[in-house]
Amino acid sequence: MGAIVLSGLALVLALALALPSVALENGLARTPPMGWMSWERFRCNVDCQADPRNCISEQLFFEMADRLAEDGWRELGYEYINIDDCWSAKQRDAAGQLVPDPKRFPSGIKALADYVHARGLKLGIYGDLGIFTCGGYPGTMLEHVKQDAETFAAWGVDMLKLDGCYSSAEEQAKGYPEMARALNATGRPIVYSCSWPAYQGGLPPKVNYTILAEICNLWRNYDDIQDSWDSILSIMDWFFTNQDVLQPAAGPGHWNDPDMLIIGNFGLSYEQSRSQMALWTVMAAPLLMSTDLRAISPGAKEILQNRLMIQINQDPLGIQGRRIVKEKSCIEVFLRPLSQAASALVFFSRRTDMPFRYTTSLAKLHFPEDAVYEVQDVYIGKIIGALKTADNFSVIINPSGVVMWYLRPMELLTQPWHVVRQQAPSKGFHPALL
Ligand code: GLA
Repeated sequence: MGAIVLSGLALVLALALALPSVALENGLARTPPMGWMSWERFRCNVDCQADPRNCISEQLFFEMADRLAEDGWRELGYEYINIDDCWSAKQRDAAGQLVPDPKRFPSGIKALADYVHARGLKLGIYGDLGIFTCGGYPGTMLEHVKQDAETFAAWGVDMLKLDGCYSSAEEQAKGYPEMARALNATGRPIVYSCSWPAYQGGLPPKVNYTILAEICNLWRNYDDIQDSWDSILSIMDWFFTNQDVLQPAAGPGHWNDPDMLIIGNFGLSYEQSRSQMALWTVMAAPLLMSTDLRAISPGAKEILQNRLMIQINQDPLGIQGRRIVKEKSCIEVFLRPLSQAASALVFFSRRTDMPFRYTTSLAKLHFPEDAVYEVQDVYIGKIIGALKTADNFSVIINPSGVVMWYLRPMELLTQPWHVVRQQAPSKGFHPALL
């Protein structure tokens, strides 16, 4: 008995030594982070004289924290309130420490963190590995990495977005892992969002997703989102065209980040807003809203607060979905495998004429033979009933809109999906029984 235990221990030790270092795993962001971020909607508006309600100031964050806490967001999981660029003074202080702009953040970041924490929320902040932030504020050069990590931890910050303007590829290759170590060394749990891959084109060989997954909890891969449907399309095109590279990189604790949700702003129609939410959910993307929560319309709020959608986004298996069909008719189908042998399907239309009737079957979408599913329409809420894999069905998809389904096997299949991230791209991405 003792010998078995001992040899078991030896095996664990041997395995631990043989595995690549995962020492930086911080145990955070087991599901994609959710919350609010200032950048896309409020940018670098620092003119509090002319625009006190919308400028980057502590007032804006106090007010958004109130909205998150009081309007049902926090209970649904939207817990991070993230300060983006342009929060700091133009100079570090005499001790070389980053300091907030004294006029716009007179109470200081620690007081803001306390305010946010008192409401059951978490605070995120922005830094930039480089001479300056993208907005021209003081950046974090290599010699400041440790000091800045300690400053953020002392303030009670819970997430850091580390941008990469004004640094070289070499500085980034050093600085991003160094910040991971520095954050871990503070002992404070701080979710770490890296913009590193976005500055290196987002793809191998320049980007090493194995290393990223070890040091960052999420990372921006691609261009900044803007308030337009074109921007959504270009982001989704890039992510799904490169899904063979990106999809295996995601999982609990480490996520691809296609950037903020712009639902509630000015650039998307109602259908397009539903599409962003569905596509981001199928991508297992962080749900970081960037909209004015003080003035959001009921329609946008309903999309962002859809419970089943959020449950799917936050599925504990954390498998990123993929595009599985691209029809000549400009209909695309996306699949995300979920826990308990469930899955989400998104039917998306790029058409610009009229609602399109799309007919297919679960068999055509590679579902297991002889299974029966209960289907729920994620937006309408309607239960569609018992659907057999072989049955043909039709969905009507509006131009630039989606139909989204949540499918649960009616008898729990004895075996869960065999959907492995490591599966070779050539083998496709099929939910199949073990
Ligand atoms: C970069 C980032 C954006 C935002 C701005 C701030 O462009 O990608 O998300 O943080 O900088 O200046």
